[in-house]
Amino acid sequence: MRDIDEITITIEVLRRLSDTPDPRLREILQALVRHLHQFARDTGITEEEWLQGIRYLTETGQTCDGVRQEFVLLSDTLGLSQLVVSQNHRRREQVTEQTILGPFFIQGLPVTTGQGMDISGGTHGEPLFITARVMASDGPVAAATVDVWQADADGLYDVQRSGWSIDRSQLRATLITDVDGRFSCRSILPKSYPIPMDGPVGKMMRATRRSPMRPAHIHFAIQKAGFDPLVTHVFVEGDEFLESDAVFGVRGSCIGSYERHAPGVAPDGTTVGVPFFVLDHVFRLEPAEEARQCTS
Ligand code: BEZ
Ligand code: FE
Repeated sequence: MRDIDEITITIEVLRRLSDTPDPRLREILQALVRHLHQFARDTGITEEEWLQGIRYLTETGQTCDGVRQEFVLLSDTLGLSQLVVSQNHRRREQVTEQTILGPFFIQGLPVTTGQGMDISGGTHGEPLFITARVMASDGPVAAATVDVWQADADGLYDVQRSGWSIDRSQLRATLITDVDGRFSCRSILPKSYPIPMDGPVGKMMRATRRSPMRPAHIHFAIQKAGFDPLVTHVFVEGDEFLESDAVFGVRGSCIGSYERHAPGVAPDGTTVGVPFFVLDHVFRLEPAEEARQCTS
């Protein structure tokens, strides 16, 4: 085809993609081209603006390394990550909602089978005792694997500090539920914190006058054969940033009650000489078969 104009170019690109043997790849690429071309037409984008976009994406790629994934952060802050999670994990009302994994999950920690482990690694903060239960519609889920991870009182994850290695992890653990579906550990009260702002995503957040803050939370990932793996957060009820999470992760079923207690005996039986907090929370899993039906 010759003399392609600004309308027929879309038809011609779609035609050239039409022989893609993999039907799903064809569907995705053709939809991408349709939306990209329409975006260019709707905005009347200039050559200079297009080039600025290319430079921005190049810099985003150059900011990624083995630990940092700026493209995922861009997707998170544009709401794409949570949209993809939501449409792939539609939940019935009784089930805990799914949220983004975030960039600070670490696989391969040693598994702790006992209860009450102190995961704080000695970092400063207000003591927190987590006593939680994993439930299915017909009762407790025993022997589920529970990953828990959170930022420290300065709003940083251990992996953001120089010299991090897996054997020097803190504020994260892999736990196992007991026969009643319970797990527990000692930690510190999470604080709200900003997403990483020193890269291209930070530039976008500043240019658009957006708050970089995430409401205080702890991440949990729960797996058990026969259930849809649950990736979720437990946010602190009353946090000032619940309505404006920079990455759109807050869901009603993901807000927890972190109860403040006067100094005294904690849930693990130890005596604590300062005020402490207790998060007593129930996670509700979706059987894998029902999750498939909800999503298809
Ligand atoms: C987090 O919760 O740790 C997080 C999630 C998305 C982007 C940045 C941080
Ligand atoms: Fe987080």
